[in-house]
Amino acid sequence: MNTQAYAHINDLKGFSIKNCPPMPFPSSVLMCPPDYYDVLQVQNPFMAGHAGSVDRTKALAQWEKVRDAFVSVGKTLRTIPAVQGLEDMVFCSNQAFVGLTSRMEKVCLMSRMRYPSRRREVPHFESWFRAEGYRIIQISDSNLNFEAHGDCRWHPGKRLLWGGYGFRTDPEVYPEIADIFETPVVKLKLVNERFYHLDTCFCPLTHEAVLIYPPAFDSHSLELILKLFPIVLAAEEDEAVRLLACNAAVIDSKVAIVQRGLGVTARHMRAVGLEVVETDTSEFVKSGGSAYCISMPYF
Ligand code: ARG
Repeated sequence: MNTQAYAHINDLKGFSIKNCPPMPFPSSVLMCPPDYYDVLQVQNPFMAGHAGSVDRTKALAQWEKVRDAFVSVGKTLRTIPAVQGLEDMVFCSNQAFVGLTSRMEKVCLMSRMRYPSRRREVPHFESWFRAEGYRIIQISDSNLNFEAHGDCRWHPGKRLLWGGYGFRTDPEVYPEIADIFETPVVKLKLVNERFYHLDTCFCPLTHEAVLIYPPAFDSHSLELILKLFPIVLAAEEDEAVRLLACNAAVIDSKVAIVQRGLGVTARHMRAVGLEVVETDTSEFVKSGGSAYCISMPYF
């Protein structure tokens, strides 16, 4: 079983995505309603200037549209109750990382969030996934941070992980994650502060195609992406920054739920066979998130 963490194309000798075993797509999606959602302190550059500007009524209407889009493509949609005082809990891709082992056991690795205000969200997700029958695991080194699906992404349909690091997640977590999920990990270094999570600049569309914002990565990481994905599509700056183009929620490599207004990116997505569903997530973009990070696909 290959559980190597790759950081450089010279390490890839003999490795190909084709040879990675298959992995089912998640059957269900978890979301957390924005009942207490707010922008308080600035945790990423998107949030600058937005403190106190969230329109919660509008946020709820936008959140419901994203929820309905998941339901209309046939996903089981569950919600975790929002908790007063946890203003970022709506971004439910960050508190726990879920996957299946090679024996199809459901495993949930709990995050260690960088910001203390967000650490308080994690126990609620731990209880939720425990009740769902997941085996709960903590990262063994308590000095390391990890922000789950914000930085770590399954390759579509394959037992392979892409692991971002640099701002919210420490690279030293990835060997342990490779062991837990019995899968190789390709590590990607983020170097541009605005693209603080991997899900702001890297969006696998199909098993062959990925959408990226190239200036977010160091050169070794770009080489890894170009070497492993046959099709690499680039988001342009305006769409990546203003519309968080790479934070699209891609379902089963068939449908992409995206922020309304994408031009070039939407054409790229259609060109590789995706149906594009436009929604407005502008209230969440104020905090640095869009459709992907207000949803957590699970197995
Ligand atoms: N304000 C939140 C933070 O900075 C937004 C998180 C968005 N999530 C994401 N996966 N990009 O932590």
